[in-house]
Amino acid sequence: MKTIAALSVLSLAAATPHVKRDDYSAIDGSFVSPPCCSFLTSPPDATVLNFALTLEHLENAFYQEALGKFDQQAFTEAGLPESARALFEQVSAHEAAHVEFLSAALGEKATQPCNYSFPYSTPKEFAAVSQILEGVGVSAYAGAAKYIKNPDYLTAAAVVLSTEARHASWVAQAVNNVEPWSGPLDTPLTLDQVYSLASPFITSCPESNPALPVKAFPSISFTPTTAQPGDEVTLSFNGSADGQTALFLTGLSQIVANVSDSKVTIPQNLTGTVYLIINKDGQETVSDNHTVAGPAVLQFQKSLSELTNGTASTNGTESSTGTETADGAESTDGSASTDGSESTNSTSSVSILSSYTGQC
Ligand SMILES: *[C@@H]1O[C@H](CO)[C@@H](O)[C@H](O)[C@H]1NC(C)=O
Ligand SMILES: *[C@@H]1O[C@H](CO)[C@@H](O)[C@H](O)[C@H]1NC(C)=O
Ligand SMILES: *[C@@H]1O[C@H](CO)[C@@H](O)[C@H](O)[C@H]1NC(C)=O
Ligand SMILES: *[C@@H]1O[C@H](CO)[C@@H](O)[C@H](O)[C@H]1NC(C)=O
Ligand SMILES: *[C@@H]1O[C@H](CO)[C@@H](O)[C@H](O)[C@H]1NC(C)=O
Ligand SMILES: *[C@@H]1O[C@H](CO)[C@@H](O)[C@H](O)[C@H]1NC(C)=O
Ligand SMILES: *[C@@H]1O[C@H](CO)[C@@H](O)[C@H](O)[C@H]1NC(C)=O
Ligand SMILES: *[C@@H]1O[C@H](CO)[C@@H](O)[C@H](O)[C@H]1NC(C)=O
Repeated sequence: MKTIAALSVLSLAAATPHVKRDDYSAIDGSFVSPPCCSFLTSPPDATVLNFALTLEHLENAFYQEALGKFDQQAFTEAGLPESARALFEQVSAHEAAHVEFLSAALGEKATQPCNYSFPYSTPKEFAAVSQILEGVGVSAYAGAAKYIKNPDYLTAAAVVLSTEARHASWVAQAVNNVEPWSGPLDTPLTLDQVYSLASPFITSCPESNPALPVKAFPSISFTPTTAQPGDEVTLSFNGSADGQTALFLTGLSQIVANVSDSKVTIPQNLTGTVYLIINKDGQETVSDNHTVAGPAVLQFQKSLSELTNGTASTNGTESSTGTETADGAESTDGSASTDGSESTNSTSSVSILSSYTGQC
């Protein structure tokens, strides 16, 4: 049933001309070079869909487990909105439908669910992880879109992506009381970057699952986890941080900063969800070939009370952590206490995404 409905939507959409990828340039006014050489290394559609299905299985298990653990009373006692659990039930059903949808498209090739371990123990922590997972889902579909050759699959991915984006905004604003978006553009992530964020949650998979051409980079931890834009953090990961180059991925831009003595200063003007990766020394473009660790998820969403209290109200808010690593269970509100200034004092520089797809 679902498949038939889905296919009729798709054939309708497939009849309309689809936008070329390099039309991104119209969105933010900057030029983005077309993925000129991606076909050389581009995985087949089935592989990309199986990668997406891997994430959908993970999300599906995440919501089923949490809703099995926490009843309405647990949500209420945690101080979450009365409607939160009912809407998480819907989110959970959507993820199950995404699993069905992709599995139907893949048929016998469909990858099967794994076992997982998620870093939360309270409804609030669950909601914080949910916001991260939904955001990573959006970035995963956005980043993988360029590999999809069949326009029907591209439309299928687009409609899943937009639904994940609604989940992410709802969880952020209605449940976690922070801004519902990061800015005008979400951040695309590469397959390896997404896998790096997802793999800490995956404990074991059926041996019969198709192998995916992805690898996980070492995860980054940093202190203090409450750091805000402008603050210096100390990085730690398996590998040497010293002398490497930090890239803060925000929208379609990367803000570059040097790592010295394992320390890096978070650029001043970051907002929303930002991904931090560590590149080899001097490599300032996003490419899996350049990456030595990450991404880590940093969240600098303003809390809603900060917004309604005016721009400069950092005094009263008891807002908690603004940053966290992907596997960090410490996350709470994700609110950032910016001082309202549009400071441009950071020691970082910005490079636009023109080299995102690599050089030919
Ligand atoms: C998942 O965990 C269960 C219980 O520990 C185990 O029986 C099962 O084999 C695991 N499945 C996979 C796919 O690893
Ligand atoms: C580094 O790798 C070791 C063994 O693989 C692991 O136990 C340790 O947690 C890792 N450290 C970090 C910071 O990821
Ligand atoms: C990083 O360090 C190099 C060499 O020391 C320097 O040329 C470059 O401008 C620095 N980049 C930033 C963003 O500070
Ligand atoms: C913040 O607190 C300081 C003193 O604690 C006070 O001088 C300042 O006016 C306050 N700012 C705002 C925006 O309330
Ligand atoms: C303003 O901030 C204070 C302190 O965080 C909070 O108690 C109050 O509810 C906020 N006011 C509004 C209108 O949100
Ligand atoms: C930059 O930093 C200097 C010294 O810390 C300070 O005086 C200046 O006001 C800052 N400028 C901006 C735009 O924040
Ligand atoms: C951050 O500030 C720099 C100037 O220091 C600017 O070039 C850049 O576009 C800003 N980045 C974002 C994401 O706002
Ligand atoms: C990345 O490295 C692989 C193997 O070394 C190479 O085949 C590929 O062309 C490189 N990709 C880019 C974008 O440089």
